[in-house]
Amino acid sequence: MRTLRQPLLLFFLLMSQVCIRAFEPVTTTVAGVLLTSAIYPFGYKIYNFFHENCNDDWLTFNSTGLEADLEKKLFGQHVASKVILKAVTGFMENKNPKKPLVLSLHGWTGTGKNFISHLIAKNIYRNGMKSSFVHQFVATNHFPHPGEVQTYKAQLQQWIRGNVTSCPRSMFIFDEMDKMHPGLIDSIKPFLDYYEHLDGVSYHQAIFIFLSNAGGGKINEVALRFWDEGKERTDIQLKDLEISLSLDVFNNKNSGFWHTSLIDKNLVDFFIPLLPLEHKHVRMCVLAEMKERDLKPDETIANEIANEINYFPKEKEIFSVKGCKTIGGKLSYYT
Ligand SMILES: *[C@@H]1O[C@H](CO)[C@@H](O)[C@H](O)[C@H]1NC(C)=O
Ligand SMILES: *[C@@H]1O[C@H](CO)[C@@H](O)[C@H](O)[C@H]1NC(C)=O
Repeated sequence: MRTLRQPLLLFFLLMSQVCIRAFEPVTTTVAGVLLTSAIYPFGYKIYNFFHENCNDDWLTFNSTGLEADLEKKLFGQHVASKVILKAVTGFMENKNPKKPLVLSLHGWTGTGKNFISHLIAKNIYRNGMKSSFVHQFVATNHFPHPGEVQTYKAQLQQWIRGNVTSCPRSMFIFDEMDKMHPGLIDSIKPFLDYYEHLDGVSYHQAIFIFLSNAGGGKINEVALRFWDEGKERTDIQLKDLEISLSLDVFNNKNSGFWHTSLIDKNLVDFFIPLLPLEHKHVRMCVLAEMKERDLKPDETIANEIANEINYFPKEKEIFSVKGCKTIGGKLSYYT
């Protein structure tokens, strides 16, 4: 209906303008204005179709999509899946959040920290990680020199402010958070807080995701304890990990992150622990990767690749040393 109405209206206006043009300039001007206002929404639609914009056409949260992705694509992380779904869904469905969403993901290499942030982005932004509203920073890559902290600080604050000003629903992912200079972490603190406005900008719609290995060792200990006691991995609950995690994170003097008051001030909404992966999870990762590459799932190859990688602790060989991290390269070798 609407698509038909606009061209018709356009035609009518065009014809009337042709007729009127012969008579008087005032009417012509009025018709010109009318014509322009008829064309404008039409042109905007076309522009919006091709160009990513900060509106519902480009940004819609798909909670069933996120749930399905966490269930089907993320392996061995029953605790994290549950917390992520609850945290993100709760935040996205809240029309009036009191602060931005701040998630802190902890776990060993290759357990899925980056992958989870990609799944979240994919189910919020139509362009996923490629969206111009998703910003990823890797500490050692973007902020490598301690001597430059003052410059980095100013730059980072300006970026966050600029991006949130142009799109309130912006997402910022900070990888290697444990390698970030404390001064730099301090500089983003105001953005995570409950302030209504900061220099006229509200950050309440934004999403911050911190990734780090901090606490990974303690999480592994808990997983190992369950294994040693003959308990099911899936019986591990958030509370079993939270205590070890917070102890490690508070007491570990090596991770600059924790020196700052991020935690003291409760700016982090959710701590999300990632468990170390077992042989069977690595196999699932390989099979998923095959599917991703349009290869026929091959259990034998999946098994061989899973056999090839290293496991810890040495005497038991239960958990993959690098999680699912290196399987991509190994798969290329096999196929
Ligand atoms: C949400 O995700 C599901 C599962 O991936 C998909 O089938 C559905 O089309 C998505 N919905 C929208 C509105 O994109
Ligand atoms: C948004 O952030 C990016 C870094 O991801 C930066 O290059 C860009 O200048 C920022 N945009 C604004 C408007 O500040």
